[in-house]
Amino acid sequence: MDIAQKTVLITGANRGLGRALVEEALKRGAKKIYAGTRNALQHPDKRVTPLTLDVTNAEDIRRVTGEVGTLDLLINNAGIALFDDLSDPSFIDKHMAVNFHGPFKIIHALLPQLKHAKGAIVNVLSLAALAPVPVTPSYSISKAAAHSLTQTMRAFLAGKNVTVHAVMLGPVDTDMTRGFDIPKAAPEAVVKEIFDGLRRGEEDIFPDPVSQAMAAGWRGGVVKAFEHQYAGFLPPSVASAA
Ligand SMILES: NC(=O)c1ccc[n+]([C@@H]2O[C@H](COP(=O)([O-])OP(=O)(O)OC[C@H]3O[C@@H](n4cnc5c(N)ncnc54)[C@H](OP(=O)(O)O)[C@@H]3O)[C@@H](O)[C@H]2O)c1
Repeated sequence: MDIAQKTVLITGANRGLGRALVEEALKRGAKKIYAGTRNALQHPDKRVTPLTLDVTNAEDIRRVTGEVGTLDLLINNAGIALFDDLSDPSFIDKHMAVNFHGPFKIIHALLPQLKHAKGAIVNVLSLAALAPVPVTPSYSISKAAAHSLTQTMRAFLAGKNVTVHAVMLGPVDTDMTRGFDIPKAAPEAVVKEIFDGLRRGEEDIFPDPVSQAMAAGWRGGVVKAFEHQYAGFLPPSVASAA
């Protein structure tokens, strides 16, 4: 998908990667951008329509579903990452609420618009979905679950002309990684790679130097082959009910 003249919804659009996604979408000629944020957002470009959207709030999701007309591209970007050690189960609940249940409910709510537009879904995941980071285990679990959801929705929606993409993100210089003293990619560079990967139709987008080092191995690997093999098990009647 080329996003010129397309309508896009981006969650967590007020800062970090989400804000960079909004700016890059504007540069690439998006027609309209719904910017989902928890707190009121103002943007000078009239193509940006702010939406109050806490991805854990069912009422917000219900209201947004009514406000969004045409939708070509949904980018599930909002996320949280907290340090923990699995001693407190509430950390898993918190991460799952934002990083898994939020995207799942938003996809479900906006699927009619996306099917109508023969659109695309981009889920911003993490390399932690593939190999857990031990200092953020609850985060890693939630991203692994969101990855499994991405793979499943990809199979369900293949027959509906809605494509589903994972962004396998490595470290990016945002508030989320303030505590990590490691090399980080600039958000402005990463979002270019995300939209370029989408334009090339990549199922899994590896948009930064750390993730790019894994791309070839992942795409040619046994897990990817199994994903495609399992997708073929889906009876056409189930795929059409998605
Ligand atoms: N930065 C990295 O190195 C890195 C690496 C791998 C993956 N990622 C993923 O990239 C995505 C963007 O992260 P980032 O680096 O831009 O992080 P960030 O700077 O911390 O921004 C997080 C964004 O998510 C929003 N958010 C959090 N909880 C929300 C909720 N309940 N409802 C709606 N919005 C919510 C925040 O809004 P508020 O301002 O209201 O809190 C903020 O806009 C996340 O999914 C993250 O897991 C990031």
